[in-house]
Amino acid sequence: MNYTVTVKEGGLVKADILVQFFTKKEMKRDAAKALAALGVVANPEGDFKAAAGEIALLYRQASGDEASRVLLAGIGEGKEVADYRKAAEAVARKAVDLHLGVLAIDCSRIDDWSKHSKHKPEELASILVEGVLYGAYRFDRLKSGKLDKEEKKEQKTKAIEELVLAGCGNRVDAVEKGAGKGVIVGLCQNRARDLVNLPGNHLSAEALADAAIEAGKRGGFEVTVFDKAKITELGMGGLLAVNKGSQQPPTFTILDYKPKGKTKKTVALVGKGVTFDSGGISLKPAQGMEEMKSDMSGAAAVIATVEAAAGLGLPLRIVGLIPATDNMPSGSAQMPGDVITTMSGITVEVGNTDAEGRLILADALTYAKTEYDPDVIVDLATLTGACIVALGSSVAGLFSNDDDLAETLFKAGQSSGEKVWRMPLWDEYDELIKSDVADVHNTGGRGAGSVTAAKFLQKFIDGHKRWAHIDIAGPAFPAKGGSKTPGATGFGVRLVLDLLKSWS
Ligand code: BES
Ligand code: MN
Ligand code: ZN
Repeated sequence: MNYTVTVKEGGLVKADILVQFFTKKEMKRDAAKALAALGVVANPEGDFKAAAGEIALLYRQASGDEASRVLLAGIGEGKEVADYRKAAEAVARKAVDLHLGVLAIDCSRIDDWSKHSKHKPEELASILVEGVLYGAYRFDRLKSGKLDKEEKKEQKTKAIEELVLAGCGNRVDAVEKGAGKGVIVGLCQNRARDLVNLPGNHLSAEALADAAIEAGKRGGFEVTVFDKAKITELGMGGLLAVNKGSQQPPTFTILDYKPKGKTKKTVALVGKGVTFDSGGISLKPAQGMEEMKSDMSGAAAVIATVEAAAGLGLPLRIVGLIPATDNMPSGSAQMPGDVITTMSGITVEVGNTDAEGRLILADALTYAKTEYDPDVIVDLATLTGACIVALGSSVAGLFSNDDDLAETLFKAGQSSGEKVWRMPLWDEYDELIKSDVADVHNTGGRGAGSVTAAKFLQKFIDGHKRWAHIDIAGPAFPAKGGSKTPGATGFGVRLVLDLLKSWS
């Protein structure tokens, strides 16, 4: 992935494809004229309605040096940033499908878009670039291409190489600034998706820690990795218990971004890093088990978010904490009924070894609270199938003991498009995770599975007042057909960045 974003004042550009955005209204009112000037017959039958994300490919009679392809892209009413994001993603997907290297977007109406959406040109530029990078994403690093047909081998361009934002006029500076931010966010989201898409045999706990180290090098922040000996010394009994069945050691990774100037808050971000979840001795059914390579989506989102926040230079101290292991059955694996002692000293009856995420998160939450005493703790985890039953595969479950934090996260969900819906944390649910032999039980029976998981986590925040748990089991890795590009979505990166920006 090597993108160049070029911002141009004028509209004349050399490119493989030139994109023209239209609102529904503009499509009816002035598209014909604008497109006639480009030498294309525009939509005489009105087939193209300019709904957000709708596209139509047209060709110019004579284009000289300029792009011969013109892509119409709808932005609907143009009122929501989601409209622009959808359009940018659709355009990029098309360009990649056509194997086009240079994509140009006509931004000469950016002031109009700004008026419609009540967002500054800089922000719109950021969203457009982010959307293009997101839409251009393909997970192809495990494809050798050895079995490709001859004609496919000849299609040299596999990814967009250059994005030109043309016709920016006197908005060049703002667009340039926004584009720079968009590149940071877009690349980080895609890096999270790469980590999630990597299967268990390509991504161990140690490899995940290495990915965090790489992120730290790029973003200029400190990364520390605890090995099994250190994890044992710290008494992280939850992480060690889940790791018992594994052939590979666990890791506990700390990403620590400290801003240059004043620090407004310290935020701890905790991400579930189960590199593959077989269920352990409480083995999962074979059907769909391969999707459990995505059980480190929370960790991937945290790594990417810290890197992006560092790249954007947000004035917050952000500590990412990643407990990582796979969850495997073996003669040495933990057994249903085992009672373990977590780092907090709280004992847990492990009724089901498949409820492993909460065991490793328990230790990470303890570590976050005791070591950093952060102003806010947010954890992201593919924690429960029950959350998918409740909310489906495009919305995450939100649990929080602080109404303001919940409200800010809800709003961040609306603006970033990574939606969250709040679920309760009432005391009544504690009944369901009582244990006869230990302090708490790791499962709560059939009802309210995502709530009892959250209630379990809450026991380990040690009275912290501003904590949110986001169950991303649904949207992190939607079932086939659930999203436009198969596999990982990078869910959580935009959401948490919006949250962090609201404090900046
Ligand atoms: N990683 C799974 C949750 C999950 C399921 C994520 C489907 C994404 C898609 C988690 O570790 C798990 O297995 N949870 C159990 C908990 C149960 C045993 C209490 C579940 O949801 O079934
Ligand atoms: Mn599990
Ligand atoms: Zn899991």
